[in-house]
Amino acid sequence: MASLLLRVVLWAWMLLSAAARPDRKDRDSVIKLPTEAVDADSDQVGTRWAVLVAGSNGFGNYRHQADVCHAYQLLIKGGLKEENIVVFMYDDIATNDMNPRPGIIINHPQGHDVYAGVPKDYTGKNVTSHNLFAVILGDKSKVSGGSGKVINSKPEDRIFIYYSDHGGPGVLGMPNMPYLYAMDFIDVLKKKHASGGYKEMVIYVEACESGSIFEGIMPKDLNIYVTTASNAQENSWGTYCPGMDPSPPPEYITCIGDLYSVAWMEDSETHNLKRESVKQQYKSVKQRTSNFNNYAMGSHVMQYGDTDITAEKLYLYQGFDPATVNLPPSNDRLEAKMEVVNQRDAELFFMWQMYQRSNHQPEKKTDILKQIAETVKHRKHIDGSVELIGVLLFGPGKGSSALQSVRAPGLPLVDDWTCLKSMVRVFESHCGSLTQYGMKHMRAFANICNSGVSKATMEEACVAACGGYDAGQLHPSNRGYSA
Ligand SMILES: *[C@@H]1O[C@H](CO)[C@@H](O)[C@H](O)[C@H]1NC(C)=O
Repeated sequence: MASLLLRVVLWAWMLLSAAARPDRKDRDSVIKLPTEAVDADSDQVGTRWAVLVAGSNGFGNYRHQADVCHAYQLLIKGGLKEENIVVFMYDDIATNDMNPRPGIIINHPQGHDVYAGVPKDYTGKNVTSHNLFAVILGDKSKVSGGSGKVINSKPEDRIFIYYSDHGGPGVLGMPNMPYLYAMDFIDVLKKKHASGGYKEMVIYVEACESGSIFEGIMPKDLNIYVTTASNAQENSWGTYCPGMDPSPPPEYITCIGDLYSVAWMEDSETHNLKRESVKQQYKSVKQRTSNFNNYAMGSHVMQYGDTDITAEKLYLYQGFDPATVNLPPSNDRLEAKMEVVNQRDAELFFMWQMYQRSNHQPEKKTDILKQIAETVKHRKHIDGSVELIGVLLFGPGKGSSALQSVRAPGLPLVDDWTCLKSMVRVFESHCGSLTQYGMKHMRAFANICNSGVSKATMEEACVAACGGYDAGQLHPSNRGYSA
């Protein structure tokens, strides 16, 4: 009793002193707790595994690969072994011509390099949803290209999966086609569970509409707990963007982090993960990602699956860095608000940054202006085609509400996921690739399926809306279908 009371008093004192001195360095001087208290709850058996996925490419998407590299460093510091962490990243950032610090990737304005040492398991054309599924299932024979490293986990092991990218209702992006469809991912998780391949799993997903990947389809009995950056119908946000507060070093023309991603990683780095529970992190990340209840610049962090797991301590998944032993398990230290750009506008924002900085290079300037014009035109084409298809299928006045209507919470985006994919393919064959931006229209295709429109009727509408349209490079015959 007495020692419990002493611990409570010590913790209260630590919390207060941490709150009074929010600076990281100052907190090093906080008094040391007896280490036995920290090791007492070390009930970990089995191996910790992790899968880290950056689903985009291009310098305008710097932040997703930066997030993933940062996560890798965090897990390594936590004692996970390289052989147990599988990394998917396109790997076109560190060596990119536009990278102001060649060979280096940062994920915080004052951040150190997070790139050195990150294994190149699946890079370039090997970053595919096919490989991701094979890796999670531990099925080396199904992997094509890459290092061949897979999650070869045993029944007593724990797995952490973290994904950062663009998304849309029911889909997560991938730098190579096709995209990852929610139901395929859930089926992989069910299969992994049926094979007895793990004890418990925690999944963190940052993407627009990431809640829709799990809403209504994530079972509660797989021993898997999930949090997502946003609910099923809102954007997620890039942060540490040029000209914003906080801003990356001035030489950066691209955002270097994402709001939910930096929220969980910066939380993990400033707490003792043997003491902080999964639930405590969920709460603090939820608060920070909401940008303190400002949903014009933030999103609703959601949780799915088996919430019993939230009582566990984070180190079971993310490991434990001995340097954090004297940090508190959590605190309600208020962080400053973060200025952000929504994931879908980040690409244009990046081009506009290039344009702003090209004043003394007329040729480059013309080139960038052309790129911006093409991007905006393509967006209009996609938006306009989908809208027109809605009118053709449901009639004027009803089209847009039929396409945009959102199902009640707890219901899946679509009842027939095969139908969703086939509608996407029909659209793309006539109107061109959806692209990263066009993923936002997935709900429209889902609603077309939910209202029982046949493939033939959809085809007619697509021909009428896009007949004769020249998609050029953006034709799926060049890029592959996204479904
Ligand atoms: C894909 O994997 C193969 C086999 O490991 C490798 O030779 C190739 O370089 C990889 N491609 C890229 C673009 O990384």
